[in-house]
Amino acid sequence: MTKFYKLTTAQRIKQLYQQGYLSQADCYFLETGSTLTTQTGSHLVENYIGNFSLPLGLANNFVIDQQDYLIPMVTEEPSVIAAACNAAQRISHCGGFHTQVQRVGIQGQIVFQGQLSIDGEQFLQQQYLRLKEIADQTHPTLRQHGGGLKNITIQKYDDFVEFDLLIDSAEAMGANIVNTILEAEAHYLQQQLPQLQLLMSILSNHNPQQLAQAQVKVKVSELATEQCDGLQVAQRMVAASRFAQMSRARAATHNKGIMNGIIAVALATGNDTRNLSAAIYSFLNEQHPLLTKWQLQGQNLIGTIKVPLPLGSVGGAISTLPSAQLALRILRRPNAAQLMGIIASVGLASNLSALRALVTTGIQAGHMNLQWQSLALMAGAQAEEITPLVSYLKKYPQKANLAAVKLKLQQLRKEK
Ligand code: MEV
Repeated sequence: MTKFYKLTTAQRIKQLYQQGYLSQADCYFLETGSTLTTQTGSHLVENYIGNFSLPLGLANNFVIDQQDYLIPMVTEEPSVIAAACNAAQRISHCGGFHTQVQRVGIQGQIVFQGQLSIDGEQFLQQQYLRLKEIADQTHPTLRQHGGGLKNITIQKYDDFVEFDLLIDSAEAMGANIVNTILEAEAHYLQQQLPQLQLLMSILSNHNPQQLAQAQVKVKVSELATEQCDGLQVAQRMVAASRFAQMSRARAATHNKGIMNGIIAVALATGNDTRNLSAAIYSFLNEQHPLLTKWQLQGQNLIGTIKVPLPLGSVGGAISTLPSAQLALRILRRPNAAQLMGIIASVGLASNLSALRALVTTGIQAGHMNLQWQSLALMAGAQAEEITPLVSYLKKYPQKANLAAVKLKLQQLRKEK
């Protein structure tokens, strides 16, 4: 069977339909530009004037917890999907990704100004059932889905008093659910504690309690390149990851490569990418600067990723955006915990590809084909003009600048 990346876009859609990933309506949606209707768009944002398109691609070769996945990714960066596929293929020869997910709930903060003159713990004990009732009444369906208020604690800082609520948002990312519950609880607490002054109530994006982990064990032979044997590549990858532990400048780039994969799947599935970014950056610090770890064990390279991923599989844009719904159908409708495991795996794959390329051929070799395609598009090339332009740039890489490519394009058109 022809490799997926060698097919035309139309052939890929046809194949996905034949394999049951897409319905006829999905194919029509993709073939006609997969745009948002004006009606949906104008309900999603204020002052809507149109849609902003980004390419949607699929990463194949992913085997996660013994299940095969085609993973939708949305990104403007040419090599991101290719890099994920490449790593996933090597990993699939060695048992795939193994994930573990913890999804405990979202923290919400209700902050008052002033001094608490009563015993806070005792107050909470007395009020707990009423506070739980308020949460249930504010979001009656949440309890039916297994979610709801799970815990409340109280903290004092100088002249602030903070109520910390742990709310399980079930399958939703939960921002709206949590903020609505917090505002109802804040109103009640203010009535009970008139000596305090309510400052604000809002969920926290610090979310280490929504944690996804993925692990891979890759035979070093899978990492070999033409010039370098597998063990040497693995040793260099471990060294690169050790260096990133020590260098803040490198750690940022190491993590950026991981974010390439994470954000692309989050975007494709309609998730709030800023929430993920905020949670991830808040999880990292001087002592713990990286999301992944690479170690050698005999002839195997062991890679792990540990990353907070407070996301959802229903609700908000996830349910409203037709493209996000299509992406979730391609993923075979994972629940939120499964989606966390999938996204963590893509992050780990992205990191493996980046490290392997960096310590062997360098990153540019793999990037160039797609960069040239993108340059050809920028120069105004039509679909059928891209291949001859890319072949020309392969032969004359020194001509890879916009002016030279525009000139070559004009020449090709004249020769027709
Ligand atoms: C580029 O988008 C990402 C990399 O810089 C990541 C890395 O250096 O690890 C290649």
